[in-house]
Amino acid sequence: MSINYDERIPNNVDLSSDKRLQRALEHWQPAFLDWWQDMGPEGWQASDVYLRTAVSTDAGGWAQFGLVKMPEYRWGIFLADPVADRRIGFGDHFGQPVWQDVPGEYRNVLQRIIVTQADTEPASVEQQRHLGATAPSLYDLRNLFQVNVEEGRHLWAMVYLLHRYFGRDGRDEAEALLDRRAGDADNPRILDAFNQACPDWLTFFCFTTFTDRDGKYQLASLAESAFDPLSRTCRFMLTEEAHHLSVGEDGVKRVLLRALELAAQDPDGDVRRQGGIDVDTVQKYVNYWFSYSLDLFGSEVSSNAATFFAGGIKGRYREDVEWEDHTALSAVHVLPLVDNGRLVDTEVPLRNAMNQVLRQSYVEDSERVVKRWNRALEEAGSDVRITLPSTRFHRRQGVYAGHHFAPDGTLLTADQWAARRDAWLPSEADRAYVASLMQPVYEPGQMAHWIAAPKRGINKMPVDYVYVRRA
Ligand SMILES: [Fe+2]
Ligand SMILES: [Fe+2]
Repeated sequence: MSINYDERIPNNVDLSSDKRLQRALEHWQPAFLDWWQDMGPEGWQASDVYLRTAVSTDAGGWAQFGLVKMPEYRWGIFLADPVADRRIGFGDHFGQPVWQDVPGEYRNVLQRIIVTQADTEPASVEQQRHLGATAPSLYDLRNLFQVNVEEGRHLWAMVYLLHRYFGRDGRDEAEALLDRRAGDADNPRILDAFNQACPDWLTFFCFTTFTDRDGKYQLASLAESAFDPLSRTCRFMLTEEAHHLSVGEDGVKRVLLRALELAAQDPDGDVRRQGGIDVDTVQKYVNYWFSYSLDLFGSEVSSNAATFFAGGIKGRYREDVEWEDHTALSAVHVLPLVDNGRLVDTEVPLRNAMNQVLRQSYVEDSERVVKRWNRALEEAGSDVRITLPSTRFHRRQGVYAGHHFAPDGTLLTADQWAARRDAWLPSEADRAYVASLMQPVYEPGQMAHWIAAPKRGINKMPVDYVYVRRA
């Protein structure tokens, strides 16, 4: 479906046929732009950036590339094409036609889910707003900004749903989305991972690898929703999200490959002495962001998750192809729970374990990423490997919060944990070391000392293309 760029708000939802909605969104637009100026990438708003912009929602060739100043990016409302005769794919309403409007009984629940997803989008822009000052290359700087403008676009996607389907409450929520601030003591973002600092580029690459990947799984589960506008919105967001994940995965890989090069140059294999980021440090950042991202799926045992599934609101990953029993009424899920200082396998009704089921799909995907990193390490002749910690490790939400576990999942006492914590998670010294490496490199084609060059540029442009032109 092609996108109408003639209107003030680009869209493929025939916005001009609903004047009230159009006016309401045109009223929200300047508030969004104010927020972008205040909280978007600091210091780069007047620069030309080589960005892609969605021009259609067709699978092939949906984007065009060009130099754009970020505040002039054409944020808009893009839904994937409707699926003819689409039916509810799971839960108590299985097989019934999907909803084009919000049923009264699910209004609050749907609004809460949409607001929670929406809140993550501006949050990550805020978390990343200072990174332009220390970009390792113009190539990376451009990727950061591409991610940022698309998170802004995702905010638009959710705000459209709030305005269009949730009346006055929805408009109030849309305003509140521009008021909360990542990490603010008084008015923080809703989810914990989105209040964490993102002070350096290793954090950015781990965040986009693991936290944006949570986004992929949340969007995929909402793409299954019986509320068809939400499903169509999320399906198109997923095509944009894929780029964020590759920025993260490739960024971490380039740090690892550079660590090997620098180790080879040092008589003792000391990467830090050569000014690089050693593999142990990367592993600690992986542990940190993987565990924080696991929390985003919610508790392993959750009556809310059961309600969402029963109602047809939030499904499993690829519900139609990966699962056979779409009602999940009688099945159980086995989960090791802490009981009297020991882990005991416990049966939970499957519907109550839906957060855990989605989290497992996420873990499998994350394992594939780690496998690709390890293949790159192996091909470079190294025998060091990255591993994912247990899903029990370093959790602050869910059934394992309040207990301590080693990366291999072994239950620990508080003292055992305290003694080993800095071996498993970034210490103050690790963070200070990584911070000390963060010096900007703005020469076309040049890379910071601690990261390898990418294999190729953006959209078939050379790596030394001037991806960002500083005003
Ligand atoms: Fe997003
Ligand atoms: Fe993202």
